[in-house]
Amino acid sequence: MTTAADTADPTLIQRLQAALGADLVLVGQATTPYCSDWHGDVQTGAVAVLRPRNTEQVSACLRTAKALGLGVVPQGGRTGLVLGAVPDTPDRQVVLSLERMNRIRRIDPDDFSAEIEAGVVLQALKDALAEQDLFFPLALGAQGSCQIGGNLSTNAGGVNVLRYGMTRDLVLGLEVVLPDGRVLDMRSRLRKDNRGIDLKQLFIGAEGTLGIITAATLKLCPLPEQTATALLALDCLEDAITLFQLARRQCCDLMSAFEFLPPLAFTLAREAMPDLTPPMPMDSPAYVLMDLSGSGLVDISALMERFLELALAEGLVRDGVIAKSQAQARALWIIREGMNEGQARRGRHLRTDLSVPLSCLPDFVAQAEAAVTQALPGAICVSYGHVGDGNVHLNVLPAPGTDADTQIEMAKKLIHQVLARFDGSISAEHGIGRLKRGDFQQGLPDTQRDLLQAIKRAIDPDQMMNPNCLQELDQRVAK
Ligand code: FAD
Ligand code: LAC
Ligand code: ZN
Repeated sequence: MTTAADTADPTLIQRLQAALGADLVLVGQATTPYCSDWHGDVQTGAVAVLRPRNTEQVSACLRTAKALGLGVVPQGGRTGLVLGAVPDTPDRQVVLSLERMNRIRRIDPDDFSAEIEAGVVLQALKDALAEQDLFFPLALGAQGSCQIGGNLSTNAGGVNVLRYGMTRDLVLGLEVVLPDGRVLDMRSRLRKDNRGIDLKQLFIGAEGTLGIITAATLKLCPLPEQTATALLALDCLEDAITLFQLARRQCCDLMSAFEFLPPLAFTLAREAMPDLTPPMPMDSPAYVLMDLSGSGLVDISALMERFLELALAEGLVRDGVIAKSQAQARALWIIREGMNEGQARRGRHLRTDLSVPLSCLPDFVAQAEAAVTQALPGAICVSYGHVGDGNVHLNVLPAPGTDADTQIEMAKKLIHQVLARFDGSISAEHGIGRLKRGDFQQGLPDTQRDLLQAIKRAIDPDQMMNPNCLQELDQRVAK
């Protein structure tokens, strides 16, 4: 294992401390937690971790890094799943953590907007908004740790996308520090503004390769006063898609989540949370976890009951439970959220984040799982996720006693071959990072590659922002 303390050049550290002050610069063993992320597959090192407290200090950090020729790895809550937030060149890179920039600057209930700093943890934002009957719809299993800056930089998806859109759809304005230290202030509160090209979009989903997002103005919604949650047992994924289509038509845009779970979901969740009790027999071939929600004059529980009557009459649902309280709803959602932790506890495995057109999802999953189980006997496919968005996490747990890395590579190759037949995406919501860069670049058409490189050269000519993440400049034309 390479740690910062092993490799860092003492003169670089001294120059960072002299320019920025010791309070901003963590060095040595204190940097270790910042050099690994949630799944812990990788532990690296960095020259130092810079922890600015405000936008001006972020500017100073970037100007200093530029003067010293250091790469800068922006970092939020380290829950990203594609190795975007951990350094890969310990002696030439610093981590820039936004964790101290965690102020909610303003909540404007009359405008349904809020201005917040990038280091605010998503759950903390949601809690503060709920006190004012407001709601930020982004919702994902990592919300207790991930930060808004990380959500914006990955254009995170999650479980409410089918109703509210991806993070990009929830943003009114941004404040960004460019690699040369200049501040791009685009903190608009306007809902509509067509004055030229919308520059903020360049930084959303850029995975920290173009600058540091320091603050954002976000779109808010009224807090849903009523939510009906149901866990439904089904015969197959095909029925889940038919059920989703029925709900789209019958529930009047009030469906806010529709997640698919395999029967293994409960077993995996219980491996992470041994006290979990099953809410119903968990031996059906497929499950759907579904939320309807709304506020004001609509009657959400009546809508859920009528919808399930219809679904039963159509023969789409075998069995199900509707939560009778918020605590019961949480107990259902914990199964979905605990699955990730359960898989992590099984050791190294293939994590995927795939999308295909909604109507193709059952065929794609059947073909991809068949290809994997045929070639890798004993490997376990765990397909789950946001199927209402055509997005499935088709993960593969290697067969016991085999070499995990070899199995992961083989499974990935087989799945990608099937995915290509469906014109699908290798990253529906997690981004590219360092993990998927090779696969991303391989499939990139020349015109797209040229444009992406031109944008990178225009904004980050020294290639100091998150080196080796997302894209690699073609050295023949790079500055
Ligand atoms: P980090 O992991 O710290 O960073 C992610 C990327 O953003 C890196 O490239 C980093 O360099 C860059 N970055 C971070 N902050 C900034 C900034 N201020 N300015 C510029 N660049 C920055 N993702 C989904 O989309 N949907 C899900 O449903 C989902 N569920 C998850 C469940 C679990 C249990 C876990 C562990 C992860 C899940 N994720 C999901 C992935 C992850 O949570 C999201 O991608 C999240 O948005 C990352 O936020 P973060 O603050 O942890 O960012
Ligand atoms: C989820 C992550 C893996 O949906 O994206 O749980
Ligand atoms: Zn997901």
